[in-house]
Amino acid sequence: MSTSKVALAFSGGLDTTVCVPLLKEEYGYDEVVGVTVDVGQPAEEFDEADETADALGVETHVVDAKAEFADLCLDAVRANADYQGYPLGTALARPVIAQAILDVAVDEGCDAVAHGCTGKGNDQLRFEAVWRTSDLEVIAPIRELGLTRDWEVEYAAEHDLPVDGGNGGDWSIDTNLWSRSVEGDALEDPNYVPPEDIYEWTDTPGEAETELVEITFEEGYPVALEGEQMDAVTLVETLNDLAGEHGVGRTDMMEDRMLGLKVRENYEHPAATALLTAHEALEGLVLTAEERQFKQQVDAQWSQKAYEGLVMAPLVDALEGFIATTQERVTGTVTLKFEGGQCRPVGRDSEFATYSESAASFDTETVDGIAQEDATGVAKYHGFQTRLANGAKEQTKQATEALPDGGSEQ
Ligand code: ARG
Repeated sequence: MSTSKVALAFSGGLDTTVCVPLLKEEYGYDEVVGVTVDVGQPAEEFDEADETADALGVETHVVDAKAEFADLCLDAVRANADYQGYPLGTALARPVIAQAILDVAVDEGCDAVAHGCTGKGNDQLRFEAVWRTSDLEVIAPIRELGLTRDWEVEYAAEHDLPVDGGNGGDWSIDTNLWSRSVEGDALEDPNYVPPEDIYEWTDTPGEAETELVEITFEEGYPVALEGEQMDAVTLVETLNDLAGEHGVGRTDMMEDRMLGLKVRENYEHPAATALLTAHEALEGLVLTAEERQFKQQVDAQWSQKAYEGLVMAPLVDALEGFIATTQERVTGTVTLKFEGGQCRPVGRDSEFATYSESAASFDTETVDGIAQEDATGVAKYHGFQTRLANGAKEQTKQATEALPDGGSEQ
């Protein structure tokens, strides 16, 4: 008889640690293979996962998906992607992680894939949307067994499992290249003001010296900082450091999760904020007014699917067709000013600018055969319907007031 095997999304935190014995005891699997996917978490997280796996006697695979994830983050820049103001770090990483785990599971001849998500969050949905494309069984022990954190802590103690309260301290943290998110414990009270020490990527805003940084874009993708070409991972890491020193890219928000729950979330995303700000500034120079207006709808749809973990949806492909066409001209540079804990565009340049300095200038008479006086006819027509409609309303009101009873009902 062959042994049954399950691949587990493994981080070494409390949830995934208790999943290891549970998959054997409760689900009857002979072997658990842990899979950790590198999407830019700090090195300590891998060390912790490694130690925990060793102590549990679990064989683990580490898959490096940083480059692939960084490419997806830059696609998100082309789509000016955010969800309720947060640049989607966790959401964008999940399909990448899920696919990497599925690939290992198939390679290793596993019968099932498992995650340690609860039944309350978004990640269960994002993982399973990818996994259910395969024939493997999908297992969610925490959700299916209805486990609480307290129960898990007790179970871990009874079974002598290597956990130290899980995930390093009070907060539940999810980190990748694009963002660091902090939630749970005292932060669950929306009115609790977070202490400075929840932040690791961003220094206290407003304390750094003002700095200018030039970002170069090619077809909507950022490719260089201060004229120096960089691959996507290096560019994002470099900007996280730089913008983080200025305290740029903090979000404290109420987030509407897919299942309808509202949760209080805190995020840090310095590079994402800088790149999204710069990209939008360049689009402002290059795209026509109607392209910008329509693209807002396209970007919002792209962001919604990304939040749902469905970047592989046919709709996203179709939206990207539109995005790609507009981005053919989004090539040029943007200068960002980091000042007072903010970053804002202070210069932009592109050979594709939809801009005529002489047309917009106060100093020129005639441009492209159009003189100032040519606007007179347009100015006469402007607001014509509003004048007609409001005039008719006013006339009716006056006629009613002129009636013998002064227009009163009875
Ligand atoms: N709520 C966020 C999302 O669904 C991310 C939550 C990240 N998890 C955490 N433990 N901080 O995108």
